[in-house]
Amino acid sequence: MVHTFDVIIVGAGGAGLRAALEIPQGFSCAVLSKVYPSRSHTGTAQGGVCAALANEEEDSWEWHMFDTVKGSDYLGDQDSIEIMCRDAIRAIIELEHMGLPFSRTPDGKIAQRMFGGHTRPENPADPNSKRVAVRRACYSADRTGHVMLHTLFENCIKQGVNFYNEFFVTDLIINKGVCCGVVAMEIGTGEIHTFHAKAVMFATGGYGRAFRITSNALIGTGDGCNIAYENGIPMEDMEFFQFHPTGLWKLGILISEAARGEGGILRNNAGERFMERYAPTVKDLAPRDMVSRAIYTEIKEGRGIKGSDGTYYVNLDLTHLGAQTIKDKIPEITGFARTYLGVEPLTEPIPVQPTAHYAMGGIPTDNDARVFLNAKGKILPGFYAAGECACVSVHGANRLGTNSLLDIIVFGRRGGKAIAQYLKEAEFTPLPKHPEGKSRKMVDDILSSKGTENAAQIRTEVQEQMMDKCSVYREAKLMKELVGDVRDLKRRYKNISIADHGKKFNTELMEAIELRHLLGTAETIAVCALNRQESRGAHARVDFPKRDDKKWLKHSFIQHEDGKPKISYKPVVITKFQPKERVY
Ligand code: FUM
Repeated sequence: MVHTFDVIIVGAGGAGLRAALEIPQGFSCAVLSKVYPSRSHTGTAQGGVCAALANEEEDSWEWHMFDTVKGSDYLGDQDSIEIMCRDAIRAIIELEHMGLPFSRTPDGKIAQRMFGGHTRPENPADPNSKRVAVRRACYSADRTGHVMLHTLFENCIKQGVNFYNEFFVTDLIINKGVCCGVVAMEIGTGEIHTFHAKAVMFATGGYGRAFRITSNALIGTGDGCNIAYENGIPMEDMEFFQFHPTGLWKLGILISEAARGEGGILRNNAGERFMERYAPTVKDLAPRDMVSRAIYTEIKEGRGIKGSDGTYYVNLDLTHLGAQTIKDKIPEITGFARTYLGVEPLTEPIPVQPTAHYAMGGIPTDNDARVFLNAKGKILPGFYAAGECACVSVHGANRLGTNSLLDIIVFGRRGGKAIAQYLKEAEFTPLPKHPEGKSRKMVDDILSSKGTENAAQIRTEVQEQMMDKCSVYREAKLMKELVGDVRDLKRRYKNISIADHGKKFNTELMEAIELRHLLGTAETIAVCALNRQESRGAHARVDFPKRDDKKWLKHSFIQHEDGKPKISYKPVVITKFQPKERVY
């Protein structure tokens, strides 16, 4: 079945929905999502979305920009970061006008809280002033992503955007050098559909499910990134994967940084506030890469707390915050501690460990979400990407908390506007013959396979290998093994079979296809991480412990050529801030 729309947006999270709102009346737009839109992963974002509104204390977009550049360990492109931080203020007011129910200050303004790495000069008149934490994160208790997703979805419904829910995209269609559609499987029927379009946007989210301990929803399997990669599109900076310091111990479920923004403290087995030693000025509100490394170091040096299963954690202490603050500001996450670990945060510390949280790398784009075909900046006409699947790059080597919700609303909107502009001139590029052929074969091969391998087993193995060999700390020996392990798992994947041969809601088939994408993204992460011989942001190598700006102040692009990954480089855009040592 062939459907025709001017624009197809894949993914109904914040970036996709924000983009859809920019498609002008008179042009048809459809959003395809593998889940019902309100289950998109944006809905799990908790602590806030930042903008220098200065509602609670003095702030400026330039300070926000500086923090984001420094937080990125100077790998973020400063032109893109400037766009994001300047536009943040407008973007928040716009969301408020769309109906997003922000928490409020006593005098009715949008309330703001502290988050890791967001600072202001203690004395703005002194250029060398020490920097202290600033309240920059706008929030809705600890459900900010949830209310943002619902607000955007309601506005899309109001605007008449078409939704194809529970459609699982399996391929990108490129013909005559132009992107002209996608192929998707309707999950309820198993039917394969072709969507013909003038422009396609991927807003397909991240790939945290490549790791065993993750805050990511089950849907975070890197589908969009791997489909693009298999179609010859490069991936940028895949070595940079963020571990959020506070996932619930063993489960990885996110315990928002807002808990520390509201005054929560990390403690080791002696009850010591250990972040004082690692980041003396901002302490528990240091950026995530530093706090995650500090937790690993505490545990490695014997100051972690041993759990009943022999694994280690540290404590997040909220007991001094008081019942009212917990109830008003962080009700959801304290509920998670009660439900999943049986811990009462009012009286007991919460056991936490770093959890795979956010992909800084992804599909390379310009500042208007147009996708690059190579490191030299050649564009693939008709193809756009925004949100976590994309790499603009505003997060560089380490994203600051609350900059992801900002990224999706700023660059989702810019992508939507760029598509609207493109539609003024664009024609439909004809579909190639049998555009759905590859997808049909992939599905038929899995359904008819008599292979002896099991997809769930391979998924567990890749997640464990990634966690053990390429998480917070990395070294060549283990990563070389990892590249071999992942390739071996890819070979074994060709021999999988599944028990459910039905067409309707075949979730086993879906998981098998998702595994293909997880393996593809795991390979690109491992290859790029092994290649980058320095430590920068979230990429911490024990064998190359220092940042090396001379050799490595550059983005890496990995591209699938003749069946093999090849790496090339793109310079970092530096405008206002020269790289400096990163201390907090
Ligand atoms: O900690 C958090 O609430 C997460 C926010 C983010 O990843 O931006």
